[in-house]
Amino acid sequence: MHALITGASSGLGFHIAKELKMRGYDLILISRNEEKLKMAAEMLHSSIYYPIDLSKDYKKVGDIIEEFKPQVVVNNAGFGLYGELENLKWERIEEMINLNILALTYITKKVMEVLDEGYIMNVSSVAACHSQPKLSAYAATKSYVAIFSRSLAKEIRGRKKLKISYLLLGPTRTNFFKNAGMPTKGIERIMLSPDKVAKYAVKKMLRGKRRIVPGVIFKLYCL
Ligand SMILES: NC(=O)c1ccc[n+]([C@@H]2O[C@H](COP(=O)([O-])OP(=O)(O)OC[C@H]3O[C@@H](n4cnc5c(N)ncnc54)[C@H](OP(=O)(O)O)[C@@H]3O)[C@@H](O)[C@H]2O)c1
Repeated sequence: MHALITGASSGLGFHIAKELKMRGYDLILISRNEEKLKMAAEMLHSSIYYPIDLSKDYKKVGDIIEEFKPQVVVNNAGFGLYGELENLKWERIEEMINLNILALTYITKKVMEVLDEGYIMNVSSVAACHSQPKLSAYAATKSYVAIFSRSLAKEIRGRKKLKISYLLLGPTRTNFFKNAGMPTKGIERIMLSPDKVAKYAVKKMLRGKRRIVPGVIFKLYCL
């Protein structure tokens, strides 16, 4: 049984991979930076890993899905951009939309074509639950992930044994904030830990839960 995880070199993706490994899955790890990914693969005792820039070459994942037919696919790779829209670089916005939306949609579609049963978890954010000044484009990509996953789960109900989940993730201690150029002042106290989130999310995904929201505060935020 294989589990494919994107963005597995660090943060949440690494911990999700660890959790799935503990549950007996053979891992297929994908992220961009080869050195980081290789180190993560060593720590996870996994020999199958592919350094791919998913904002450009996401179609390469199609062949990997056809070859391994993974039972679990976690679309986790993603990043945010913090700041007023007019001040953000267009190239970075394009890269973010390509990764957070296009790659995730392509990989999900490919799984639909190849598999009739298994689990997909798409990583969204609590940013999808309300308007987010200075995170407008990022929040919108995560709203896409949530509505796409919800709609698709209904679309396949009764036709396929595939379970589709989406994770509405609150602020979590990873490299996300540094990479997004986003200050953490004021939210440090309520930040989630990636290992706990991964444990919770994997358990819920494997139970077929569609909407996964770790943490009481964030459940209330996204009511
Ligand atoms: N942390 C939070 O507070 C938070 C909250 C809500 C939602 N999220 C979402 O959670 C997911 C995981 O993020 P994280 O918090 O774990 O952040 P992270 O530590 O920065 O991890 C991001 C992962 O995505 C990979 N990645 C980035 N760009 C890529 C690309 N172009 N191609 C392939 N892989 C790429 C990174 O690999 P490289 O290092 O090789 O680039 C890394 O493995 C993201 O979708 C994020 O939007 C995070």
